[in-house]
Amino acid sequence: MTVPDLLPALPGETVGARVTRTLRDAVLRGTLPDGTRLPGHRALAAQLGVSRNTVVDALDTLTWEGFVQAAPRSGTRVVRPARPQPGAAPPLPLSDWARRALAGQVQDVAGTYAVDFRPGQPVPDLYPAAWTQALARRAAAVHHWRDAAGDALPDPLGPLETRRALAAYLNAERGAQVTPDMVMLTGGTQGALDALARAFLEPGRTAAIETPTYAGAHAALSATGATLHPVPVDDHGLIPAHLPAQATLLYATPACQYPTTATLPAARRQAVLDWAAPRGTLILEDDYAADLVHGTGQGGRAPAVMQALDPARVILLGSFSKSLAPVTRSGFLAGPPAVIQVLAGTRPLTDRAPGTLDALALADLLGSGAYARHVRRTRPVLAERHEAATHALHAHFPDWQVTPARAGLHLHVTLPPDQSAADVIGRAARGGVALGGVDGQEDTLLLAFAHLPPPRLRQGLARLARALHPPHP
Ligand SMILES: Cc1ncc(COP(=O)(O)O)c(C=O)c1O
Repeated sequence: MTVPDLLPALPGETVGARVTRTLRDAVLRGTLPDGTRLPGHRALAAQLGVSRNTVVDALDTLTWEGFVQAAPRSGTRVVRPARPQPGAAPPLPLSDWARRALAGQVQDVAGTYAVDFRPGQPVPDLYPAAWTQALARRAAAVHHWRDAAGDALPDPLGPLETRRALAAYLNAERGAQVTPDMVMLTGGTQGALDALARAFLEPGRTAAIETPTYAGAHAALSATGATLHPVPVDDHGLIPAHLPAQATLLYATPACQYPTTATLPAARRQAVLDWAAPRGTLILEDDYAADLVHGTGQGGRAPAVMQALDPARVILLGSFSKSLAPVTRSGFLAGPPAVIQVLAGTRPLTDRAPGTLDALALADLLGSGAYARHVRRTRPVLAERHEAATHALHAHFPDWQVTPARAGLHLHVTLPPDQSAADVIGRAARGGVALGGVDGQEDTLLLAFAHLPPPRLRQGLARLARALHPPHP
């Protein structure tokens, strides 16, 4: 038999652990076949270039784990654990939820591109320094952290100080009617959607959903097995006349419809609330773009949230994925205390509690006013990028209809009838430019603009123009 060479050491690994791992790996791979008689301790130590004691300890461990067996008078023998025959792996026993969740995933033009205009991109050059400083400060003090009641275990709703700061921010900046006990911190909006969908939807129930909509919301709601009732949108957002006769909940983006960027007018908001009240329907108000307003009209703000008009029915969803950074996975939902109690009760079964460090840094950022200042500073930068992208799109593609966006990080483009989104996206991709599309909308492109400064936006769109209109030879 051939004694294997020692595997490369792992960081911090002792010689003994390395010898044990090398021999175990050789048994599992079959390079030391079942029944192989290993050399005596001294010989094995010499071949591996380690001390005899190290080999004795390693063989002790491997005997305990069942990979070798010491037999009287015949030394140590390899015992290869019985393993199933290789062959086609049997299908995984997926649950209905997993099957639906996987089927609902959006197909994308995968890969990396010289220019990437797909929505959902981080905007790293705008991350506030106050945030990274708050994270570092909170991390340094993490050993001493206790919540307001003196408990060192995280609250399933998130730290009270963050919920207080967030409630104050939402009431001041979004006209919300929120108290700290109405807030639950989540892993982004997606975490909020998942928790609510699992708590309130199941097969046989109906969820009404704006159409087109945010794919993440559609996927979370449809994975529950509930029936999804599409509510069409026009240039003013969702059309209340198309709301269903009955629904357990409605998902909507009133401040900035995703993906069209339309704002729902006051009369339609009221119509939605009037529809929901007698039916007991919960309204999920996704306020994703509220801190990303760059249009100057209406005081440069998103309209006050619907939540304030009916706090017993509307659950406000928000996220710091875009206004800070996607890596935080920090978001929240703010809803009636009865809903919050249900979610606080179900959360210990999933992730127990939100990431406390992120939440505490957020408390500092909100409480000190640094977040509000960051949002204010970001707006003119977004406005400049929006303007540069719109201008270059008009110049290169005069037949494309570009909807000016008051908020958010992408532009919505309607193609003329003789062009198809799939064809444009495919040709752009072959030219090194990634564009976004909307499921089932052949006349629509989405183009993220906020992550690139104006010169790079102009260069990227010039490249797109070359990809779509190559010069004739
Ligand atoms: C409509 C909408 N809601 C919410 C989000 C944020 O989701 P999350 O907080 O899970 O990153 C996005 C981001 O792309 C979005 O487009």
